[in-house]
Amino acid sequence: MSIENVATGGLVLLGCGKMGSAMLQGWLEEGLAPGSVWVIDPFPSDWLKSTGVQINVDLPACPAIVLIAVKPQMMGDALPAITAMGNGATLFVSVAAGTPISAYEAALGTHSPIIRAMPNTPAAVGRGITAIIGNAHATADHMDTAEGLLRAVGQVVRLETEAQMDAVTGVSGSGPAYVFHMIECLAAAGEAQGLAPDLAMQLAKATVAGAGALAEAADETPAQLRVNVTSPNGTTQAGLAVLMDAGGGLPPLMAQTVAAATNRSKELAND
Ligand SMILES: NC(=O)c1ccc[n+]([C@@H]2O[C@H](COP(=O)([O-])OP(=O)(O)OC[C@H]3O[C@@H](n4cnc5c(N)ncnc54)[C@H](OP(=O)(O)O)[C@@H]3O)[C@@H](O)[C@H]2O)c1
Repeated sequence: MSIENVATGGLVLLGCGKMGSAMLQGWLEEGLAPGSVWVIDPFPSDWLKSTGVQINVDLPACPAIVLIAVKPQMMGDALPAITAMGNGATLFVSVAAGTPISAYEAALGTHSPIIRAMPNTPAAVGRGITAIIGNAHATADHMDTAEGLLRAVGQVVRLETEAQMDAVTGVSGSGPAYVFHMIECLAAAGEAQGLAPDLAMQLAKATVAGAGALAEAADETPAQLRVNVTSPNGTTQAGLAVLMDAGGGLPPLMAQTVAAATNRSKELAND
């Protein structure tokens, strides 16, 4: 099933908040016709109303794809709008954190092709990364279609098992918040060394954004990039001696951070 078939069969977006809007904006910019999109959302934003998509009207009986982007706690209220489409040709893709494939199979029928996806917040600027995993009825074609749609908001990677979703949540799902905190800490540390708050924040933001862009663009590994800027007995080496301390530095702290988020993801899935 290609993106063109999605346009012909119709795409239903269930929930159009931050993540739904980011994806819809990407699809429309890529040329998906607004007329082939149906959105269900109790309080459509002014932006959504301006797009020309069909909002809160009767849905097609058998759309090519339904993308579920409501909060997990809203799932019970939201799914009845689409259950009649289950067990047929419609592909369901969910970006809801923590809701397992089995929950969708229970609600939509075990014969439905279902793909679970975990995006992250840089999707809002088209720089997200989304991990996907399908159920037994999701074909290679379905996976390609989902990947094509999700690429509108960044990179897409495929998992081997649904269990890996917890670790993905701990690394890339929650990861942007870790990096935001690193920016806060870097700026605060700059202030402590005598810089004005605005200047310290500008330096911290640009440093993290620039280093991230360089890490992605460079052929060298991040470890090599680090070595490249660390002269013996220089300033970077003095700083890294603290940050890289195996006992009290970033390595154990990051391991604990990701483990805590991964474990919380497992707990939420079992709630
Ligand atoms: N934001 C992210 O970066 C991110 C990352 C990974 C995963 N996710 C997942 O993406 C999903 C959406 O997150 P979000 O940040 O976009 O949340 P959000 O901004 O709150 O969007 C959810 C949208 O669903 C609407 N909604 C509520 N009840 C509904 C119903 N019964 N039928 C249809 N729509 C309904 C909400 O409307 P109202 O506002 O009027 O209630 C809202 O517009 C969540 O499951 C989240 O786990 C998000």
